[in-house]
Amino acid sequence: MLALLTLLLGLTASASVEWRRPVIKFNSKELTRSEVVVRLGAPLDLRCEGDGPVNWRPRLPKHRRYVSKLRGNVQTLRVDRPTAEFTGTYVCYYTSGSQQRELTATVHVYIRDPNRIFWASSNLLRVVKKEGEDFMLPCLLTDPSATDIGLRMDNGTTVPPGMNYTVYKHRGILIHNLQPSFNADYVCTARVNGVEKTSRTFSINVIQKLRFPPYVFLDTDEYIRIVGEELKIRCTTHNPNFNYNVTWKYATKSKPIIEERVKSSGENRLDIQSILTISAVDLADTGNISCIGTNEAGVNSTTTYLLVVDKPYIRLQPQLSPKLAHRGLSVEVNEGEDLELSVVVEAYPHITEHKWVTPTTPTSQRKNINSYDTTTDTMQVCSSKE
Ligand SMILES: *[C@@H]1O[C@H](CO)[C@@H](O)[C@H](O)[C@H]1NC(C)=O
Ligand SMILES: *[C@@H]1O[C@H](CO)[C@@H](O)[C@H](O)[C@H]1NC(C)=O
Ligand SMILES: *[C@@H]1O[C@H](CO)[C@@H](O)[C@H](O)[C@H]1NC(C)=O
Ligand SMILES: *[C@@H]1O[C@H](CO)[C@@H](O)[C@H](O)[C@H]1NC(C)=O
Ligand SMILES: *[C@@H]1O[C@H](CO)[C@@H](O)[C@H](O)[C@H]1NC(C)=O
Repeated sequence: MLALLTLLLGLTASASVEWRRPVIKFNSKELTRSEVVVRLGAPLDLRCEGDGPVNWRPRLPKHRRYVSKLRGNVQTLRVDRPTAEFTGTYVCYYTSGSQQRELTATVHVYIRDPNRIFWASSNLLRVVKKEGEDFMLPCLLTDPSATDIGLRMDNGTTVPPGMNYTVYKHRGILIHNLQPSFNADYVCTARVNGVEKTSRTFSINVIQKLRFPPYVFLDTDEYIRIVGEELKIRCTTHNPNFNYNVTWKYATKSKPIIEERVKSSGENRLDIQSILTISAVDLADTGNISCIGTNEAGVNSTTTYLLVVDKPYIRLQPQLSPKLAHRGLSVEVNEGEDLELSVVVEAYPHITEHKWVTPTTPTSQRKNINSYDTTTDTMQVCSSKE
């Protein structure tokens, strides 16, 4: 008794699993091939019958409205006067039961339009793709009797050297591994009764893959500030396109404010100026600050050093030529010889005035400012007394 019960249960469980693949009928007749051809002006009538609730998935979601509203084991998709746009693969599937999901039936429909050998959606005529990607040109053949399906440029030139493509009669033409050198206008071509027919024109624009990280530049490698002063660092960056970003790395105690100014400089250059501001620096803000630019090719960064001092300072360092005979800072020279004395001045804020004091009359005094770096706000002064 128990054995019989198990057997019965087993039978009922498997009955729901073993549904057959849905059956498609075209104009009420069961399909013998997986393709049908509808002449322009004739109706498209697809019926799907299953062992459970079924539904249609047309190529375009907007065509779902042609599916009859009734839900059940039979579902009809009917269009009275289909245009070439209805060309495509239609799938009938079970709407319930996960095991039945793969149990589908498909039919490819050609709406034969003598004026349009290919159907191409108008919103895909201008394509922007990245180098290295594949692209399916959605040239849907509307007549299966066409031959020599291929691709050429709109102006009659053959496809560029190195371009490889595959023709899929039901889906279009797949161009492999797009290259910037492929930028052009293309048409799909086919022959019907020996006559060449073309699709609408596709304009393909392949964006070059970036080979280098962005350009990242800081004005100077050191900033000196007194506690409480404002710090503003400008990071200048640019990149061939807008697919990049600028970030900062800092260990400052104060939280900086970051602002960005973006501008496009011509067709192949985008500039981002990122400005880091600390309104009042603190001694603990001393340290490295890096500006980092990232794009698909990698990372570029520039580092600057912020030194925060508690009060203004000035440091003088005598620089004596090694040729001079000297003991400490006392120098011996022979009468009649020239003498050059130099001092390096490091100061923040930068010095506004300097002079030499000598025991004798200062008539032949000469001052040379050898270098003056405004951005670091430090100053190197070499002064000579001859
Ligand atoms: C096209 O195919 C040829 C041969 O397989 C290959 O040498 C060439 O690199 C391919 N072109 C592109 C752009 O991938
Ligand atoms: C057609 O266009 C391509 C790409 O723009 C160009 O290289 C080629 O020279 C043109 N051919 C003719 C015949 O104008
Ligand atoms: C990083 O940016 C600098 C400008 O500061 C630029 O000279 C350099 O070429 C960039 N580095 C790379 C790897 O592109
Ligand atoms: C600061 O930057 C310099 C130069 O890039 C580097 O040598 C040093 O190790 C950095 N210091 C810290 C604490 O990161
Ligand atoms: C910055 O750009 C890179 C490359 O484009 C990207 O991988 C990264 O997620 C971006 N980071 C931010 C914070 O947007």
